[in-house]
Amino acid sequence: MSRTAVVTGGASGLGRAICQHLARQDRPVAVLDLDGDAAERLAGELRGKKHRAVAVQVDVADRVAVDKAFDEVRAALGSVGILVTSAAVSGFLPFEQVTSGDWTRTIAVNLTGTFNCLQSAIPDMTAESWGRIVTISSAAGQTGSLRQAHYAASKGGVIALTKTVALEYAAKGITANTIPPFTVDTPLLRAAQKSKLLPGSEVLARMIPARRLGTGDDIAAMCAFLCSDEAGYITGQVIGVNGGAVT
Ligand SMILES: NC(=O)c1ccc[n+]([C@@H]2O[C@H](COP(=O)([O-])OP(=O)(O)OC[C@H]3O[C@@H](n4cnc5c(N)ncnc54)[C@H](O)[C@@H]3O)[C@@H](O)[C@H]2O)c1
Repeated sequence: MSRTAVVTGGASGLGRAICQHLARQDRPVAVLDLDGDAAERLAGELRGKKHRAVAVQVDVADRVAVDKAFDEVRAALGSVGILVTSAAVSGFLPFEQVTSGDWTRTIAVNLTGTFNCLQSAIPDMTAESWGRIVTISSAAGQTGSLRQAHYAASKGGVIALTKTVALEYAAKGITANTIPPFTVDTPLLRAAQKSKLLPGSEVLARMIPARRLGTGDDIAAMCAFLCSDEAGYITGQVIGVNGGAVT
């Protein structure tokens, strides 16, 4: 059976690779993103390859808009069986310079945005007694991360939220797992490197036992597996795809 997948932050980086992998597995895909034009471009590319895909522009921090976006997805592609939450903002600031505005927006997008999407999607999954949830968290939420207090706190929250949802819905055929990437070559990472907030890729690679940065496909392959029927006994797990950077 073809389960409809919603991927937030689907227009770029990891989300984009995840949309492509899920589409190749014949999942109808809804690309949800703040950047509606980029989301529409990807949905168009997928449709050009004969996949079913729609784009919906949404700010995941806005609950009313999220509920409306899921209604649009249902109208176009049917009930939602798979949710992947990749939308996030990042930032680097010494702790004392994190403003309450930085804090509030980061928590609103990364943590509350994940909560909003989970609450919108889960009723469809309980109705079908089947669901797959994968949140994209971060190694920062596992270990902490220098100059990223707001980001690391939001991602630690995503890990705890995912584990709790896994427990509450395990008996209902719904799994929830989180992938916490370390460093993956995406537009987000390159922007941080360009602003000298992160070192270059050669330096970063030396911090990783596998001696290379991750790719969107590394993450997407695991994500697609976690969304499969075969992964039905895996839930509540933090599954590192990080070249051994966090063990
Ligand atoms: N790239 C890395 O090294 C890395 C490391 C650890 C964790 N992550 C996590 O992986 C996920 C994807 O990151 P990426 O590197 O692909 O970033 P990216 O910037 O390439 O993609 C993020 C996407 O999210 C969208 N987005 C941002 N705010 C949004 C909002 N309010 N509502 C809807 N969409 C919004 C952006 O428009 C963008 O398309 C994020 O959750 C990030 O925290 C990435």
